[in-house]
Amino acid sequence: MAIPDAFLDELVERSDIVDVVSQYVQLTKKGGNLFGLCPFHNEKTPSFSVSPDKQIYHCFGCGKGGGVISFIMSIENLSFPDAVRFLADKNGMTVPEESADQEIPRQRKRMLELNREAARWFYACLNGPGGAKAAAYLDKRGITRKTANRFGLGAAPEGWDNLLKAMREKGFTQDELLAAGLVTAGQRRKESGTRSVYDKFRDRLIFPVIDIRGEVLGFSGRALNDDQDPKYLNSPETLVFSKRRTLFGMNLAKNTKRSSILLVEGNIDVVTLHQAGFDNAVATMGTALTTEQTRLISRYAKEIVICYDNDPPGKKATERALDLLKNSEFTVRVLKLPDRIVDGKAVKIDADDFIRLRGSDAFEQLLSGSGGGMEFRLGELRDKYDLTDDMQRLEYLRAVCTMLAEIASPVEREVWCSRAAAGCGVTADALKQEVERQRKRNLKNSRKQYERSLTRPTRNAQPQEKKLRYDDIRSAVAEEGVIRLLLLDPGMIQECSLEAEEFTSPVLRRLYEDLRRRQKEGRSVTPSALAAGMEEGEAALLTELLNKPESGGQARETLRDYTDVIRQEKIMKSGDLQEIARLMRKKNKLD
Ligand code: CTP
Ligand code: MN
Repeated sequence: MAIPDAFLDELVERSDIVDVVSQYVQLTKKGGNLFGLCPFHNEKTPSFSVSPDKQIYHCFGCGKGGGVISFIMSIENLSFPDAVRFLADKNGMTVPEESADQEIPRQRKRMLELNREAARWFYACLNGPGGAKAAAYLDKRGITRKTANRFGLGAAPEGWDNLLKAMREKGFTQDELLAAGLVTAGQRRKESGTRSVYDKFRDRLIFPVIDIRGEVLGFSGRALNDDQDPKYLNSPETLVFSKRRTLFGMNLAKNTKRSSILLVEGNIDVVTLHQAGFDNAVATMGTALTTEQTRLISRYAKEIVICYDNDPPGKKATERALDLLKNSEFTVRVLKLPDRIVDGKAVKIDADDFIRLRGSDAFEQLLSGSGGGMEFRLGELRDKYDLTDDMQRLEYLRAVCTMLAEIASPVEREVWCSRAAAGCGVTADALKQEVERQRKRNLKNSRKQYERSLTRPTRNAQPQEKKLRYDDIRSAVAEEGVIRLLLLDPGMIQECSLEAEEFTSPVLRRLYEDLRRRQKEGRSVTPSALAAGMEEGEAALLTELLNKPESGGQARETLRDYTDVIRQEKIMKSGDLQEIARLMRKKNKLD
């Protein structure tokens, strides 16, 4: 890291965490801390806390935490140096420039320029002789030129190096094209033996992936022939493109006048829906919905309508998305596409098929009639059983019970009990009683689980981040205590007799070293200053340990106790029998 420590310290000191977080999260005061809805996971009750004293944040729900810099890194999705620059800008400070720091932003900027040029070139191809095939394909799919232009669609012509040559002429290097994923290095499949660098997208319809600021992040290319594999080819993850953070069509959907965002499976679905007047459609790019994506959506809409394909993978994806959105702020609905009946047989369709077959009015009707997540799940469950069969009906009721017992609101539970009981030969009341019984069982179980976790503290004491796990929990808990005490009262740093080598956890050892070094150099010893130089998981561990209660005794005595525990653990582990015996004698005398 090339940014000078003194600068970082000053930056952290000047950036009040409450001010910074308040730009993104509405905070309310509760005791000495402020609370709000966590911006890093979906929740309905606030478990995200900000401490003005310690200048840190910590979420009791998802475990994220850190200082002001890590907050900016996470929420603005920036690297460490970029986050520092971001905060410095806000404070009118100038980061002492180091050439290495400029490198990544420079590369990113250059890649965006390249992508923009490539998108222009693909677009020109679609409208030129090389794009005749793609243009014919658009006609076949009923996509008008106007719609194609709105999405900036393009064509990658046949041939191995058309784009490569065109971009080289514009002054981009082969390495830059490789980094952007526009060309591939390797063996051409058809001309075995010749190793070379060639266009990744060939003979395909091109969908540029554009973010909400209008930057071209990457591309998706659809095959134009049935024998082309894969059907859809996407840009790889690059400096500027990350599938889990991107939604195809969001650049347009963000301007919709509709109150919801319509989530569909494919690029073509998005394009067709926009053309039919559903300009709120977006799609993930061949991956499951992520929290990063829902956070993006939440900036524009409070309601999500899931409209995935009507086939088994589509239904599974719907379940997953419902699960992800379960405790979110969103109102969630599921639009169920009907099967298409061909020669008496049911055929699965997607949104694009539906619009083509039935038109936009019919889709509008489906949209306004779409039910909530519970309706979808109940319907799915019902379809699994033959309710005319007694045994299957019982199984259905058992499964319904489990599902309905999870609903927190009593009113909602009642409504769904009536719905689920209908046509099953049981009364709503009987089902309701059974559901309430199941609910009580669930509550009892979770209480038991909770109590068990209390009597087995070791499990709880482990940090959230797996790679930071403690080998020696007893010692590590004491080491945490030392760090906590010293941060609460930096005056004691000098008095602490522990050597850094005595710490068993590498991350806690590093914290201790940092504390001592800062104290010696007269720099700030605050949690936020410490967190500034730490990785995400480590910063979360720091805020986690700061939020654990301190035993409440005299600070000096407690520090001595912790020190003793650390040293005892070392002796117990050493296997030195003489030392262990001495320790035991001492303990017995004391106890
Ligand atoms: N997808 C992908 N890679 C694949 C297949 C699919 O990234 N190999 C993504 C694409 O974004 C695609 C979406 O998943 O748009 C849906 O795929 P699929 O259901 O196969 O799309 P279809 O509706 O069948 O596509 P089309 O209508 O173009 O035939
Ligand atoms: Mn389709």
